[in-house]
Amino acid sequence: MLNQKRNPSNSFSEVIKALQAEAKQSLEDGFIYFKEDLKTKTKGTVIVPTRKIKSGVAVVCPVVISKEGKDNEKALQAYKEEIKNCQKCSLGKTRTNFVFGEGNPGAKLVFIGEAPGADEDEQGRPFVGRSGQLLTKIIESIGFKREDVFIINILKCRPPNNRAPEPEEVEVCIPYLYKQLEIIKPKIICTLGNPSTQTLLNTKEGITKLRGRALDWNGIEVVATFHPSACLRNPAYKVDVWKDVKFLRKEYDRLCGSSN
Ligand code: URA
Repeated sequence: MLNQKRNPSNSFSEVIKALQAEAKQSLEDGFIYFKEDLKTKTKGTVIVPTRKIKSGVAVVCPVVISKEGKDNEKALQAYKEEIKNCQKCSLGKTRTNFVFGEGNPGAKLVFIGEAPGADEDEQGRPFVGRSGQLLTKIIESIGFKREDVFIINILKCRPPNNRAPEPEEVEVCIPYLYKQLEIIKPKIICTLGNPSTQTLLNTKEGITKLRGRALDWNGIEVVATFHPSACLRNPAYKVDVWKDVKFLRKEYDRLCGSSN
């Protein structure tokens, strides 16, 4: 596709057709066309997007599991064994799988979502459905791979019909998240959406006010942004998410050094 676009012997209409097909596919894939990431040139009714990577954002860092990471891996594994058969609330009876969370045990960056959905419940892994695919793209848009970071939810079990978590469920489940964070010791946390942000920070303040700036949880920096599922419902949120995750990456580099 790129070669086809660059080949000077292609006619203008061939190039436009190729770009239209790419744009259609990208929209179907839920690709993040962030406003600031693109220069948009208009030719008649055809919009030709040109990707523009801002310097310092799309730096791909290798996953290196440090000695500390290996120790964390053992501790997390042991903790998962200890809690995976939890029956402290009624979700223990309705779940298919306990979704512990996954990623780099030595991660300096942790993403926190709300609760597993149907796909996550089925596979026992966090963020693997449609919003998970978008989250993976968001993570990659700031130069990480999904395996570089750790992804956890506030609740480990799926609430039936994806209803919001009940306060009693959060109360019994949140200590699991605290313990996971104690083991991983991230330098920075990104909360996704209102429920995870409000629960972690113990506030009633809404995501619109909290997003995109440095917050604090027990000495660990927190950056909140909209949940990927909100972006799927309303793609306009992607612009704000892009701003927030660029800030997240800047803060990560400041706290961890850009080569970490
Ligand atoms: N939404 C979440 O908050 N977490 C998941 O794991 C999937 C969807």
